[in-house]
Amino acid sequence: MKKRVLVATGGGDCPGLNAVIRAIVLRAQQERNWEVVGSINAFDGILNEPNEIVILDEEKVAGIHIRGGTIIGTTNKGGPFAWPIKNSDGTWDAADRSDEMLRRLQYLGVDAVINIGGDGSQQISQKLYEKGCNIIGVPKTIDNDLSATDFTFGFQTAVQEATTAVDKLMTTAASHNRVFVLEVMGRYAGWIGLHSAVAGGADVCLIPEIPYDLNKVIDKIYSRFDRDRGYAIIVIAEGAKPIDGATEQQDSNEVGYKNKRMGGVASKLIAELKEAGLEMDMRETVLGHLQRGGTPLAYDRNLATQFGVEAFEMVLREDYGKMVTYRHPNITPVPFVEAISQYNFVNPKSDLVKSARGVGICMGD
Ligand code: F6P
Repeated sequence: MKKRVLVATGGGDCPGLNAVIRAIVLRAQQERNWEVVGSINAFDGILNEPNEIVILDEEKVAGIHIRGGTIIGTTNKGGPFAWPIKNSDGTWDAADRSDEMLRRLQYLGVDAVINIGGDGSQQISQKLYEKGCNIIGVPKTIDNDLSATDFTFGFQTAVQEATTAVDKLMTTAASHNRVFVLEVMGRYAGWIGLHSAVAGGADVCLIPEIPYDLNKVIDKIYSRFDRDRGYAIIVIAEGAKPIDGATEQQDSNEVGYKNKRMGGVASKLIAELKEAGLEMDMRETVLGHLQRGGTPLAYDRNLATQFGVEAFEMVLREDYGKMVTYRHPNITPVPFVEAISQYNFVNPKSDLVKSARGVGICMGD
């Protein structure tokens, strides 16, 4: 009988997930005694009744590396340690079904698991590893907020989308003498904001790591106008906050959704600017999930392919309890505990921030 590796994609989707799945399958097919199966919607596929497990072979993965999303689906709700259970009064509780999941994996003949996901998913990986699961992690997130790896796949594609938005807003802003505020994703890290602001040549870039002084933003906008002629582009990361304020985030009312819902900073900034007396036309664009969908760039496909091949080779070496990382120029496994211990913030003193300031971008301070 063939040995089985189960692949799951968890958390928010990200361009490049399919390229990882394809790489795992194609590499596994070079070993005669291995087959790959996928769990539908993260680990829900194992825990659902009946289970939803699909065989992933060469035919299933043909050409998928150029497609966004994930062919096996994903979810950022619940999970084996916090499975949502509805009480008779309509309220919800979370149940730990991890032991049951491990029993089910054994029953399904699964020898190893590859969990492709962000920090939340890799925390689940670590807990499953502690319970004896032969598990390997592959990092993914457009936010690039995992400190163990130089880059995550999906990030460059998101930056390209955000940069294209800056390019487009530039021409309409110039035509109408307007101020445009572009809100980009990234949670508590400003990577997408910073990279797209520099690439697009924005005037102002506001990121969570550098709380902004509204007066500095106002000065920069005025410097871009001569009376009523001129325009300005502001890129603001969803986690950005003023020096005396807090991050805009709310609890979600979606069952099993543990993350805070972020966003709303562009309209808040425009309100603050109006209140401070700015009379220019101001418009907001919230880029949202356009940053996450669609075709991955070549860079992300390459990184995803390297992660997928290495993840399967780690299975062959039985090098469990680790996450694949990219540490230039190497693809290297690191223990989960190390991989999830630190958040990857933009360093305000880094060269890219220095370069942004060097080309006149106001960082809000
Ligand atoms: O972590 C990726 C990300 O796209 C963040 O940038 C964003 O805040 C969040 O996910 C959005 O999550 P959801 O898809 O649940 O709205």
